[in-house]
Amino acid sequence: MASKSEKKLRSARWFAPDDLRSFGHRSRMMQLGFSEADFGNKPVIGILSTWSDLNSCHSHFPDRVEHVKRGVFQAGGLAVEMPALSVDESFTKPTSMLYRNLLAIETEEVIRSHPLDGVVLMGGCDKTTPGLVMGAVSAGVPMIYLPAGAMLRGNYAGQILGSGSDAWKYWDERRAGNITNEQWQGVEGGIARSAGTCMTMGTASTMMSIADALGLTLPGASSIPAVDSGHQRMSADCGRRIVDMVWEDLTPNKVLTDASVRNAAIVAMALGCSTNAVVHLIAMARRAGLALTLDDLDALGRVTPLIANVRPSGKDYLMEDFYYAGGLLALMKQIEDRLDTSALTVSGKSLGETLVGAKVFNDDVIRPLSNPVYHEGSLAVLHGNLCPDGAVIKPAACDPRYYKHEGPALVFDSYPEMKKAIDDENLQVTPDHVLVLRNAGPQGGPGFPEWGMLPIPKALIKQGHRDMLRISDARMSGTSYGACVLHVSPESYVGGPLALLKTGDIVRLDLENRHLDMLVDEAELARRRAAWTPPQPRFERGWGWMYINHITQADKGCDFDFLQTDFGRPVGEPDI
Ligand code: FES
Ligand code: MG
Repeated sequence: MASKSEKKLRSARWFAPDDLRSFGHRSRMMQLGFSEADFGNKPVIGILSTWSDLNSCHSHFPDRVEHVKRGVFQAGGLAVEMPALSVDESFTKPTSMLYRNLLAIETEEVIRSHPLDGVVLMGGCDKTTPGLVMGAVSAGVPMIYLPAGAMLRGNYAGQILGSGSDAWKYWDERRAGNITNEQWQGVEGGIARSAGTCMTMGTASTMMSIADALGLTLPGASSIPAVDSGHQRMSADCGRRIVDMVWEDLTPNKVLTDASVRNAAIVAMALGCSTNAVVHLIAMARRAGLALTLDDLDALGRVTPLIANVRPSGKDYLMEDFYYAGGLLALMKQIEDRLDTSALTVSGKSLGETLVGAKVFNDDVIRPLSNPVYHEGSLAVLHGNLCPDGAVIKPAACDPRYYKHEGPALVFDSYPEMKKAIDDENLQVTPDHVLVLRNAGPQGGPGFPEWGMLPIPKALIKQGHRDMLRISDARMSGTSYGACVLHVSPESYVGGPLALLKTGDIVRLDLENRHLDMLVDEAELARRRAAWTPPQPRFERGWGWMYINHITQADKGCDFDFLQTDFGRPVGEPDI
């Protein structure tokens, strides 16, 4: 570790020179009530908190900021809170994904433009993890990710409720006329009982766990429930640790490596990760200049058993149970020989060192490899004439009878059109039909919404059906389930072949061989392609315009082309 006299802090560029600009910086620190003793040659730690009054998953952050500050001050740093865009999953329309890259830009630029030597990133609700990490990796100062943690288990009338998953399940029962309004309201009041993120293995739990497996959180931090007092202690630990990381110059490029990305992908597969993991993990890796492809993920998925029995892939348990069963460290211990344990973590220890002593306390929640929830990993990647650049499916969360399926397509061009038709009890549809929604991708959605778990038509719900094959260029919530093919790339809105599919065409899924095709001959497809006209751009001004002009497709992580760290000359430090 460099000593205080050896290492020149980044913040010294603002505070140390004997010139007029530094006079201004120092006098404004004094205006804030800080003396030279507070900020002179002290690591200045930015706490980037994605709190807002409308982010129910982060409502404990104001308290946790105080604990981070406690740790920073104890370790001899200066802590400053810097609010960042609170991209929340529950309220953001048309979709939170439209704003992940906005958070990434904000994170990068807030860090770059201020006298910060290190940062603690506070996020958890789905897009906040990748948004914060992407931006901080590009900014390049030492960082620790502080995960919000999951909320407590839901509860209604003695039944455990899981975020998202049980909302969909009870909604179908309500549509089938099997539960009363009063019961439905009981579910509404019981499904989200405390601060914290969705407590199923949805996108939030997946991405916090991935950040942990990447080595970007304190080891095991991602599994601590949001309202456990251990979460407060972990927050203070983050504050203490980040100050040391500054003196050690432990920058994110030393933690985010090919080894750690591969570790995270294996862990994601073993966890029963959200399908969204592929988009975000690819985007984060690319910020570090690391190539990760859909095919890499498929290859890892084929050889990694799913061992976390957490809904929606698992049947019985939620994140709170996962924590009591030993949490992520215990899961990684089970698959330790598949991981590169030399990978460095922000703790300063290797992954292997952090796993010493990790134990499973309930082997029904975290299963041994000999008794997995599913014999392969969470996700499979498909290719074929419907998705030349790939599509994603979550086999463990679908009815196995759809693993090999052929059926006629029933195609919808927009979400409102689909929504209207789906509740029509006279809709001509059989369980063998393949429901298709297009124009729902990164540009078409716009913003790549979570519409991919298309509702089962009411006519089939009433006959008792709860699953069918569905295909879209949308994403789906990590808490969703069913035979849903997602992220079809390239998307239909930019002329991907999904745009050429017609109602009645036969679609074939062959999961074992990873194929997804429409059985339409090439000459006919060429005719349809020639007749296809591009739709109107979704936006002609503002953020949306910037988004549609720079967003990459799902298989590339949906980052903006110009934000990828290797795009153009490095920005460097402000020199004035
Ligand atoms: Fe925030 Fe699910 S709504 S994590
Ligand atoms: Mg979600």
